[in-house]
Amino acid sequence: MNEIKIFSPATVANVACGFDVLGFCLDTVGDEMVIRKIDKKGIFITKIEGFDLPYETELNVAGVSALAMYKASKPDCGFEIEIYKNIKPGSGIGSSAASAVGSVFGMNELLGKPYNKTQLTEFAIKGEALASKCEHADNLAPAIFGGFTLVKSMSPLEVLQIPVPNNLYAIIIHPQIEIRTSEARTILPKQITLQEAITQWANFGSLIHGLHTNDYQLIKRSLHDVIIEPHRSKLIPYFVDVKQAALKNGALGCGISGSGPSMFFLSEGIEQSKNVEIAVKKTYSKTDIEFETYVSKINTEGIKII
Ligand code: HSE
Repeated sequence: MNEIKIFSPATVANVACGFDVLGFCLDTVGDEMVIRKIDKKGIFITKIEGFDLPYETELNVAGVSALAMYKASKPDCGFEIEIYKNIKPGSGIGSSAASAVGSVFGMNELLGKPYNKTQLTEFAIKGEALASKCEHADNLAPAIFGGFTLVKSMSPLEVLQIPVPNNLYAIIIHPQIEIRTSEARTILPKQITLQEAITQWANFGSLIHGLHTNDYQLIKRSLHDVIIEPHRSKLIPYFVDVKQAALKNGALGCGISGSGPSMFFLSEGIEQSKNVEIAVKKTYSKTDIEFETYVSKINTEGIKII
């Protein structure tokens, strides 16, 4: 096999109370990429469609993660990468992560799978860091492992897979404005109070327990973020209105997806998800900002060959 086509999924990071550690994988939106083994040594980005991104390998997220793996594996060949981007950069649903994992996943398949999922995540961290100016894996891990993932530790990297309740759905609204993760990180407080920390880790632990026990009501009571949301929600127009509309119409909970501007909502069952989507659409239609919405089952498979 010399060529492979893959689907690299969008992801939701943070999941309210799990800043920088928790994430889940979506299945209705993602990028496609073609990775090709060639005789000429090196990593070459030969095609980018969808959005205007750099072709220089060292300046491209997919290129940087590919280079990290290439330097470690020293293969007797090179690789061409084609990127068909559907996830808008700066959307908050893991656009850079999809690129970063796509190249290394594809190369790994073509090399006969020398690396495991944790090692692939480590290479991808290098690409993700180019976009967000710091190393975090809460979008990368769910894209590679699927489902919900918890980044237990960055050094050494340890990723835990958290069970996904069967009937859990995600709804996403993506207002068509751009928020750069690097900038959304600079507005965060350097210190928090002990009371805020207590509230956050109580919610976080409860959320993980709710996911393990299929306890939708506990998930609902735990989806609160008292540390990041108060700061970043100011960057998202009509955040409060949309949140209220979704909760009133059956969403279990809601939060900023990654660093925004997308927002995510979790709900039980497809019917409830459709109701939430309608409510969210109705609220945002009254504004002058264009938007897209998605309803997705949690994708337990993650990145895959197509
Ligand atoms: N955890 C990251 C953040 C995800 O919120 O800054 C965005 O890439």
